[in-house]
Amino acid sequence: MAEKIVLKEDILDSFISILTTLTGIIPRASHRDGIKYFIEKKIAENNYSIDEYRKLLFTDKNLISEFVNECTVNETYFFREEKQFALLKNKIFPNWRYKSPEKEIKIWSAACSYGEEAYSLAVMALLCGLNPMVTASDINSEVIEHCKDGVFLSTSLRSVDGVSYQKLVLPYQREDRKIAFPQDIKNHITTMQMNLAELDSPKNILILPKNQNIIFIRNVFIYFSIELRKQILKIITDNCLADDGYLFVSMNEIAQLDSTIVPKSLEKLSDGNVFYFHKISDATRAGDKKEVL
Ligand SMILES: C[S@@+](CC[C@H](N)C(=O)[O-])C[C@H]1O[C@@H](n2cnc3c(N)ncnc32)[C@H](O)[C@@H]1O
Repeated sequence: MAEKIVLKEDILDSFISILTTLTGIIPRASHRDGIKYFIEKKIAENNYSIDEYRKLLFTDKNLISEFVNECTVNETYFFREEKQFALLKNKIFPNWRYKSPEKEIKIWSAACSYGEEAYSLAVMALLCGLNPMVTASDINSEVIEHCKDGVFLSTSLRSVDGVSYQKLVLPYQREDRKIAFPQDIKNHITTMQMNLAELDSPKNILILPKNQNIIFIRNVFIYFSIELRKQILKIITDNCLADDGYLFVSMNEIAQLDSTIVPKSLEKLSDGNVFYFHKISDATRAGDKKEVL
């Protein structure tokens, strides 16, 4: 039988520091026990010493990937924060259809988890008569595979939120109650593994989704330092968001993103109690400057 290992707090801290270096994630106190349990089990089952496993987390790609997958929090569901989806349905998507009826709308669900967010965006855009191309990315390799498969448990439909739009995915519910999207919906989704803490690496700069009309980057900033939030917002605003594009974070996160963090080219807008960002084009900003002068 594997010998039981118990990690002391300072040893756990040293593993968490590896996690933060790899991913930017600073786990909440409530997640530390889960991480501790995983490391203790891994070490015991493989007869590693603590030091051996810690060193492997710098060199062994499979172990690194498994460690990162275990330490991410992947809570998500269809039409989460339905007020934001109401804004898309009632304002942003109809405007797009009016102004650019033939043009594909590019949407990026960054930190998409299993993919409910990406599919919610795609089916909502299709309902509004648009042709969406949704890029779904996450650091966790397992959730990305799940998103690619397009099959979801019925627990991804919640009774507390998202209810107004669940009818959009119910046509794809099977007898086993799972929601399985057909190929013609999956054709609107592209998946990629992307670490938001390394957006400026030479590899990522090449594959970053460009000219995105809408970016959803929700419920992930909460895990990052202020400095990393600022860095990510700058990179995606400058390199990924199209002029006049919209960027959504979760309603819990928006209050923490003040003018010291948000790039000048993003203006904060509100519609009722929905807050979001709009990228002001260079031309508009130049015009504004002239008026001031
Ligand atoms: C709580 S889920 C949010 C899912 C979805 N955006 C939503 O709001 O329902 C957070 C996701 O962020 C991902 N994540 C954490 N750190 C990341 C990083 N450095 N790069 C990319 N994704 C990351 C996790 O794997 C997880 O799937």
